[in-house]
Amino acid sequence: MSKISAVVLAAGKGTRMRSDRPKVLFEVYGKAILSHVTDNIKDAGIENISLVVSPSSDEIREKYGDSFVYSVQETPLGTGHALLSAKEFMENMGGKVYVACGDAPLVDEGCIRQFISYAEEGEYDLCLLSADIFYKNSYGRIVRDENGDMLRIVETKDANEEERKITEVNSGTYLIDINKLLSCAGELQSNNSQKEYYLTDFVEIFRNHGYKVGAYKTEDSDVVLGVNTRIDLAKINKVMQRRINEELMLSGVSIIDPENTYIEKDVIIGKDTVIYPGTFISGKTVIGERNEIFSSRIISSVIGNDNVIESSTIEESSMGDHSKIGPYAHFRPKSSIGNGLKIGNFVELKNAHLADGVKASHHAYLGDVDIEEDVNIGCGVITANYDGENKHRSRIGRDSFIGCNSNIVSPVNVGERTFVAAGSNVTEDTPPGSFVIGRVRQETKVNKKHRYR
Ligand code: UD1
Ligand code: MG
Repeated sequence: MSKISAVVLAAGKGTRMRSDRPKVLFEVYGKAILSHVTDNIKDAGIENISLVVSPSSDEIREKYGDSFVYSVQETPLGTGHALLSAKEFMENMGGKVYVACGDAPLVDEGCIRQFISYAEEGEYDLCLLSADIFYKNSYGRIVRDENGDMLRIVETKDANEEERKITEVNSGTYLIDINKLLSCAGELQSNNSQKEYYLTDFVEIFRNHGYKVGAYKTEDSDVVLGVNTRIDLAKINKVMQRRINEELMLSGVSIIDPENTYIEKDVIIGKDTVIYPGTFISGKTVIGERNEIFSSRIISSVIGNDNVIESSTIEESSMGDHSKIGPYAHFRPKSSIGNGLKIGNFVELKNAHLADGVKASHHAYLGDVDIEEDVNIGCGVITANYDGENKHRSRIGRDSFIGCNSNIVSPVNVGERTFVAAGSNVTEDTPPGSFVIGRVRQETKVNKKHRYR
């Protein structure tokens, strides 16, 4: 095996996106396109990566810091010129360079590994990844002779009618011998319709030198999809969605309507969990077995087994087993609940820890609070945790009953088995087993209705 480093081309103008942002920083499935590309490369075992960037690439440098070696392409004169802008990096590395387009996130780890082993076994000096595409497209066409040997690549813009009919196209992924590349770098010209230095022209140049060129045609034609327009972005979203959902379904997760379910790549879901349409699951979420999830959004959270979650949002929180959540519950970050809870309609949790068996069935705000086992939170209960300057934390002891529309004015310690009467303002700590009533006594003026109305 040769020593392999990677160069990722990311200095293009991205004109077709019609945006002020660098195209490679547009996100697909929660991650920048460029991050998909570099993660795939790292996953395939290539450690040294140089990003070819434009001089005005502050956003890219800020995002990635020291993770990569930056090679600057002073002016965007084409993909060949872009690769040669990484000359110094390539000279330092030696061996072979894996070249990827920063706008093609679907060349995944498996594909990279297969491609590289094909290129290495065939001892090619320049090998590229191709695929057959049967719809109208603007990729480079692979021109072969009658023996099937690759002669050159012609860009769609430069191609004649016959060449445009060729279905085999270039993915923009290459493995190239660095010494040979640099030795004939001077031969690259820009006499084409775009007046650019095309990386693809090295195919012909290498052939003229008698170097061995080849193409590995993958079955999965989706890998060539590059993001040039926002239409491509949507297409790539769809492909990623299909790949991820199919993998999950094959591993035992039921997804009722995969077209309308969005689950990011790093999410882990256990078998026999059923996901209904309109669900978004992202970040580093881990979900156990036999849950039912209806139209919900779950972000970087840990969900146990046998829960039912309906039309709710759960952010950076965790839950155990056998709970029923929603409809319309909202777990804000740093909340955790135990097992067998009921968190019902319009209940909001924030940095709240609720132990096993707690019930908060409707309309409550539980922020900065520790609620112990089997507490019943009535409708409209609020923890008044913010005094305008600081947040305060409260505790509600086990087996307590907090009547409807009560305010727990934090910080307060409600002892276990406390009974708080409906409509109370709880401002003082209560010992275990207390009865608390903190509200204005009702006045009833008999026969005075007309006077007071
Ligand atoms: C390129 C290929 C085409 C292939 C397609 C696959 C060439 C000439 N054409 O076309 O054969 O089918 O990719 O997606 O290589 N870039 C720079 N500097 C530049 C120009 C481009 O860094 O001066 C970067 C871009 O940021 C992008 C990548 O190179 O990430 C590809 O450039 P792009 O303009 O998208 O090339 P395509 O027209 O897609
Ligand atoms: Mg492109």
